[in-house]
Amino acid sequence: MKAFIKTKYGGPEVLQLEEIDKPMVKDGYILVKVVANSANPADWHLLRGKPFFARFTSGLFKPKEKIAGADFAGIIVETGKNVTSFKVGDKVFGETLMGGAFAEYVNVPANVCGKVPNNVSIVQMASIPTAGLTALQALVTYGKITSGEKVFINGASGGVGHFAVQIAKSYGANVTAVCSGRNVDFVKSLGADKVVAYDTENIHQHNGSYDLIIDANGNLTYADYTRMGKRGVMIGFTTMGHMFSTLVSKLFGNFPLIQFTVESNTKDMQTLAELVAQGKVKPQIEKLFSYKEIPEAISYIEAMRTRGKVVMQWIDDQNQTVSTNNLTNVPF
Ligand SMILES: NC(=O)c1ccc[n+]([C@@H]2O[C@H](COP(=O)([O-])OP(=O)(O)OC[C@H]3O[C@@H](n4cnc5c(N)ncnc54)[C@H](OP(=O)(O)O)[C@@H]3O)[C@@H](O)[C@H]2O)c1
Repeated sequence: MKAFIKTKYGGPEVLQLEEIDKPMVKDGYILVKVVANSANPADWHLLRGKPFFARFTSGLFKPKEKIAGADFAGIIVETGKNVTSFKVGDKVFGETLMGGAFAEYVNVPANVCGKVPNNVSIVQMASIPTAGLTALQALVTYGKITSGEKVFINGASGGVGHFAVQIAKSYGANVTAVCSGRNVDFVKSLGADKVVAYDTENIHQHNGSYDLIIDANGNLTYADYTRMGKRGVMIGFTTMGHMFSTLVSKLFGNFPLIQFTVESNTKDMQTLAELVAQGKVKPQIEKLFSYKEIPEAISYIEAMRTRGKVVMQWIDDQNQTVSTNNLTNVPF
């Protein structure tokens, strides 16, 4: 099978498209023929081995996992022993955060996947796993969102943020969202009640009052959380220094601020699938790349200015490549 391989740390140029053996399906695992992947900041963090401390998990001098990529959606071609929740032919989506997804076939534990709803394309669902799951877990698992609450979402136009706005609305929240001026209309179209452009208003002086603060960008300070909110969830990070100082302030303060790392499970994946099937969450795909352009897709998202998501399709025949305008009718 074809797969994007990394044998050393570096930029997207270290990724090589190679022919390697198809993985053997393990007990409790499913083998999925990949239809599409999406790109996440975690992909280039792992590719570059940055921040450095992450190498204690991903490999000190070179990456332990040779195949890049986390998010995938596709069709099950084989199931391992003890897999009861899925069968061959099921359309699934999932994530394997440490890598393995940028390949024709991915071998993953069944319990990190969800089923693609009948009325949604596999390509659309490929945009969901890491970003959708992070938004859901920030709001629901850790943020304990309830209907009628006032929620502030910083970094609302990116992968995580654009899902967070829609999920918060679907839980009945009143949403104030923050993005750059060029994305204000986009974020309003997602359902935000109020949108603040960070390039015209200094967010560190914003004086609103909220039940829950979600920071998908990662530049809010501890003082921002305590000034504006009753509880907070920190998702993104800008610099190690900023994250460290926020967490140290939290140690000495009593504001309920949670930082977490997303973890995949079928229950949350199914919740996301239902929200998409009901039209409450609409994945917004800014750009579609071919699988051959996966290094270019990673380069593109490294700027951290993605509007919604970037998706890469495993299709050789360019005539079959769908446009971002017509994703509801794609043949997969
Ligand atoms: N904790 C976890 O488990 C977890 C999981 C997934 C992701 N993350 C982290 O979450 C962050 C967001 O991920 P993502 O996938 O959403 O990234 P993304 O798709 O690249 O989106 C980044 C967004 O940040 C916005 N942004 C840039 N500067 C900003 C500023 N000063 N204030 C507010 N927003 C700003 C950009 O919007 P504009 O273009 O409008 O500025 C862009 O849409 C990343 O740091 C990622 O590593 C953490």
